[in-house]
Amino acid sequence: MKPKIYVTRKIEDSVKEKLENYCEVTMWEKEDVPVPKEVLIEEVRKVEGLYCLLTETIDKEVIESAPDLKVISNMAVGFNNIDIEEAKKHNIIVTNTPEILTETTADLTFALLMATARRIVEAVDYIKSNQWVTWSPMQLTGRDVHGATLGIIGMGRIGSALARRAKGFNMNIIYHNRNRSLEQERELDVQYVEFEELLKTSDFICVMVPYSEETKNLISEREFRLMKDTSILVNTSRGGIVDEDALYMALTNQQIGAAGLDVFEEEPINKSNRFVSLPNVISLPHIGSASIDTRLKMEEVAAENLLRVLQNNPPIYRVV
Ligand code: DGY
Repeated sequence: MKPKIYVTRKIEDSVKEKLENYCEVTMWEKEDVPVPKEVLIEEVRKVEGLYCLLTETIDKEVIESAPDLKVISNMAVGFNNIDIEEAKKHNIIVTNTPEILTETTADLTFALLMATARRIVEAVDYIKSNQWVTWSPMQLTGRDVHGATLGIIGMGRIGSALARRAKGFNMNIIYHNRNRSLEQERELDVQYVEFEELLKTSDFICVMVPYSEETKNLISEREFRLMKDTSILVNTSRGGIVDEDALYMALTNQQIGAAGLDVFEEEPINKSNRFVSLPNVISLPHIGSASIDTRLKMEEVAAENLLRVLQNNPPIYRVV
């Protein structure tokens, strides 16, 4: 008998077929609507494998409803949507999809940095709203990226990929990380600084740490007070790492210059969100890893992780 699995969103046919070769698959067929919690709870009662996205909260209640669950395969590198301690307690293996999305997420981070620095969205809107009547010297002027100081908080895979891009733009790169790596500093030509120094001296600050109890509200009122009033904050990691009330105050009180945000405390947001109407903010709908190739690879790796565990083999990427 094939093991039963539940997939919480419509995935590519080719990936579903691969899963079906070995499993009996039930799938939430909708592309743009997450599975309701009560449906999820009913479905996990019957399965050995769960293939889920970052939009599903896999908490104690869900885990306790799944007596036969052996593996939770998250189609994301981040796994803050899953209660890891609870999974451990029930001997459930949790897997994720790092590495494959590193370069794509670094591309988006750099794109957001540049778009915010050079006010690209404002400039597009300027034409759309018929405001462009002449060229003038200081019209829509932004900040130079080349030659500026980039502060990277978290020099993991994506932070390092971002540093490589910034080098090509002749930026001066400083970083702060829990662990310092001299080898990485030599290889990437980046300089380690204390957290406060990074906040005080960076022209651009990119948040590249994973979300955890430790990094929750890592950037809050105190941190914004230390930043330059021209500095630009870019967050493509997780919303809760930046305290949104403090960020809003910093942006509206000219404590910092601008922000590029791909992630929010509560997602999704819509046009009534307070950041959307601020001219010095570019808001994106969590598209860091959203290239066709990368999203397809993420789907495939999440499937492979799940299958390997159900076949009693080690997954490619195991969280716990
Ligand atoms: C992740 O994988 O954690 C990203 O936030 C989405 O790709």
